[in-house]
Amino acid sequence: MFFRKYIDFEGLLGDGEVMAATADYMGGGLGLERPENWKDVYAHFGLDIPSVRRRLLAGRKLEVPPYYNGGFVAFREGEIGQKKEQFGLARYQDCMSVDRAGIFPEWKSLDQVVLPVTIERLGVNFKLAPETINYNVRAHGSKSYDSAELVHYHQFNTIFTHHLPFGYEALENMEAVLDSKFLTEFVTQYGDELDWHSPKNRLRQRLMNSDGETLNSPTKDLEYLADKFGTDKGSTRHRYTDLYQLILEPYRNTRCNFLEMGLQGGWRNFGGEVAERPTDDCPSIRMWLSYLKKAQIYGLDVSDFSWFYDPRFTFYRCDMEERSQIATAASILPQMDVIIDDASHASHHQQDAFLEFFPRLKSGGVYIIEDLRRQPPQLEREGITKTGDLLYNYQITREFLHSNTKTQRAFNKIKDLIATCFVFQVGYRKEMPHQIAVIQRR
Ligand SMILES: C[S@@+](CC[C@H](N)C(=O)[O-])C[C@H]1O[C@@H](n2cnc3c(N)ncnc32)[C@H](O)[C@@H]1O
Repeated sequence: MFFRKYIDFEGLLGDGEVMAATADYMGGGLGLERPENWKDVYAHFGLDIPSVRRRLLAGRKLEVPPYYNGGFVAFREGEIGQKKEQFGLARYQDCMSVDRAGIFPEWKSLDQVVLPVTIERLGVNFKLAPETINYNVRAHGSKSYDSAELVHYHQFNTIFTHHLPFGYEALENMEAVLDSKFLTEFVTQYGDELDWHSPKNRLRQRLMNSDGETLNSPTKDLEYLADKFGTDKGSTRHRYTDLYQLILEPYRNTRCNFLEMGLQGGWRNFGGEVAERPTDDCPSIRMWLSYLKKAQIYGLDVSDFSWFYDPRFTFYRCDMEERSQIATAASILPQMDVIIDDASHASHHQQDAFLEFFPRLKSGGVYIIEDLRRQPPQLEREGITKTGDLLYNYQITREFLHSNTKTQRAFNKIKDLIATCFVFQVGYRKEMPHQIAVIQRR
């Protein structure tokens, strides 16, 4: 388990109370989801199965007799409950007793099964802990859960596979508390438990070189930050950070203006108007703020991100379906050094935004368009030249060709402003479709 925040257990736990969180799911095999199967263990202590039922937090969300997450239980030292016993000792003894009685001969998690029984047997005041202080990455890791305070995982590997940002946060915490030798020790101790050989697991390469020496500041790489904040630009998906590290390093400590269009994934799954969807994170903006230490970061999106505050961040709301809104944004926002279009990926949005914003880039500035390969069918206009093909053809011939003559003319009109244009394919493999374009302004 690791703490993401300070938790005031003293304040949370009343006198004589025991606190635990409802379990996330039930280990299979014992059939404990059926209340009657608890009979033997309660009967072993001369108790009836309690009538109260609790709904498990994940999986099938079964309603079962009290069943708590055994990984974290809070109680005060000293004798408590009607029986005036020490809770820790009582729980241990109850486990041993159930074990010796052979009630669950095959079962390895007696401590968790016996926990509610000990609570009942001692007659302690029980307090249900919020999920935030026993947040199980295996059960809930895939959703963004910023309020998690105490994170629970079973093996190191779980935390890195189920919620990479939490894994990295744990590493950083340990690195901050222990000294730099920590990284070497960590790999030596737990290396085998982590799936070093998975091509997606870049952790080892970040922590050590092939001679087993600890690398300096691995936590400062852009890829590391992408994985940590949960944008898909890093090692887990698109690997744009390979390219960005190269292009953006010179901007790292400069007072540049940086704009990203499109701030949080998941918008396509929203049933209604994207503009109305709830938003609760902007991972790539957090990455840019962390990487570009002195930059003013601007974020543009049709959904509302005005709640996100940072003294170096400004949000601009704009629906890129409306060319006039893009034009207004381009005229209001300051001149940018870098612009990244990671918005809807619809070809006409990408092209309208380029036509409006590129001429306003600072001289030498860089314009990047992500995800050229896949356009959302619900937005894409029929027969339109894809932005990837448009730019790739320009890269080869220095001429823009477009299915719409007006758009073609507009692109050719600004081609003298282009210093250089590169289109990279998916995974930087030349046999793959166009994926990301980098265009520099003269
Ligand atoms: C791929 S996500 C951005 C991901 C983010 N940059 C990251 O790396 O985590 C795409 C974004 O485009 C936005 N978007 C979709 N349609 C849009 C439109 N018509 N105008 C502006 N933004 C739009 C969505 O609201 C969403 O935030």
